Amino acid sequence: MTVDLLLGLQWGDEGKGKIVDVLTSKYDIIARFQGGPNAGHTLEFDGIKHVLRTIPSGIFHKDAINIIGNGVVIDPVVFMKEIEGLEKFNIDIYNRLLISRKAHLILPTHRLLDAASEAAKGKAKIGSTLKGIGPTYMDKTGRNGLRVGDMELVDFKERYRTLADKHEAMIKFHDVDMQYNLKELEEEFFAAVEQIKKLQFIDSEEYIHNALKEGKTILAEGAQGSLLDIDFGTYPFVTSSNTTAAGACTGLGVAPNRVKNVFGIFKAYTTRVGSGPFPTELFDEVGAEIAKVGREFGAVTGRARRCGWLDLVALKYAVQVNGVTELYMMKGDVLSGFDTLKVCTKYKYNGQEIDHLPFNIEPENVEPIYVEKKGWKADLTGMTTYEELPSELKEYIEFIEKELEVPVKIVSVGPDRTQTILK
Ligand code: GDP
Ligand code: IMO
Ligand code: MG
Repeated sequence: MTVDLLLGLQWGDEGKGKIVDVLTSKYDIIARFQGGPNAGHTLEFDGIKHVLRTIPSGIFHKDAINIIGNGVVIDPVVFMKEIEGLEKFNIDIYNRLLISRKAHLILPTHRLLDAASEAAKGKAKIGSTLKGIGPTYMDKTGRNGLRVGDMELVDFKERYRTLADKHEAMIKFHDVDMQYNLKELEEEFFAAVEQIKKLQFIDSEEYIHNALKEGKTILAEGAQGSLLDIDFGTYPFVTSSNTTAAGACTGLGVAPNRVKNVFGIFKAYTTRVGSGPFPTELFDEVGAEIAKVGREFGAVTGRARRCGWLDLVALKYAVQVNGVTELYMMKGDVLSGFDTLKVCTKYKYNGQEIDHLPFNIEPENVEPIYVEKKGWKADLTGMTTYEELPSELKEYIEFIEKELEVPVKIVSVGPDRTQTILK
């Protein structure tokens, strides 16, 4: 059988966790392929809200297998806290959560290095979640990293020490004022390492290959969003992994010709958390209203998310890079009540009108060009069929479909699992 992908098309937090949970009943396996605890994927059902960080969003379905692929970076401390949080839900974690031996480990010193690097950057900081993501991927590509499988080696502690000592020298090099107690952090780390070793480690590429041969269906769950991709995002204000479709191939060991559907998920507007350019950002009361109604605060850091109008130039770029076959539009309910809505269809770039994403989208180069759309007033949160939706919203959706040349197949009208309309 084949693999389907679900990817965020903007700057993350599009609602991936909610939709993976909704789609899980159709799949045998849900697999994360990149990112790590910088992700915060929210699921809501039966009146409970869950935020998952490294664990795939299929974990609450009793029949699905959940895999953490080789492309993911794992912090044993954060990970074990996440597992503990799931204990009361009686999930058979041991049999239903499998971890790739090739996934890289986030050490306490990776987290410290992240903080030191950001502090040293000053105003130019990335706005990282400070979970150690950048330094861990740097050690991976620099061929210094420690992997899940290494935890089983007798000399793991020595390997750890060599790397941590090097990190300490690098932290000093940054020459910033940082207080930390490494001994305490290491105790916590090694305690978590002992715990995590009780879970099942697998050669995930082999497992997935065999599962496909047996006719199993797989949904790969992206983290972050396409505009945070290390190659195609708004570099350097990006994360350190490939968040786009290709990342699923390298992050799971799946060949490109096994990928079938690519589900691209986006909010009916745009948000961004952290630094970096954002052409359609709103600095007025409209932006504040969207942030308030949409509860736009980071699921990981609690930071306020910057809000703005839908940017079809950026979205079209993400659709192209990922080969999106179906679009899922989230949070349409948040836009209810505005008389008019703006949608960016072009940029004025160095004086010229363009409809593609240029190399540099800093405010001094790019000015968004908008078309206005009629807003809708109705409360969407109780609606269950596409027919019920207000005609202005249907026009908004049809406009997006026409511009992006991809159909919108799901319209989400609230955070709960049930607030999901199939078109
Ligand atoms: P993810 O990182 O892509 O999984 O998204 P996050 O969980 O970080 O952020 C999405 C937020 O929007 C969460 O708080 C969700 O509960 C919420 N959410 C998802 N879909 C909808 C929707 O259609 N309407 C509203 N109002 N909230 C939604
Ligand atoms: P999910 O999966 C939104 C942002 C950070 C920062 C930049 C780099 O929940 O959509 P990093 O910690 O990776 O070094 O941060 O990327 N960022 C996210 N923004 N959603 C995420 O994940 C994010 N993961 C990282 O805010 O700007
Ligand atoms: Mg999130």
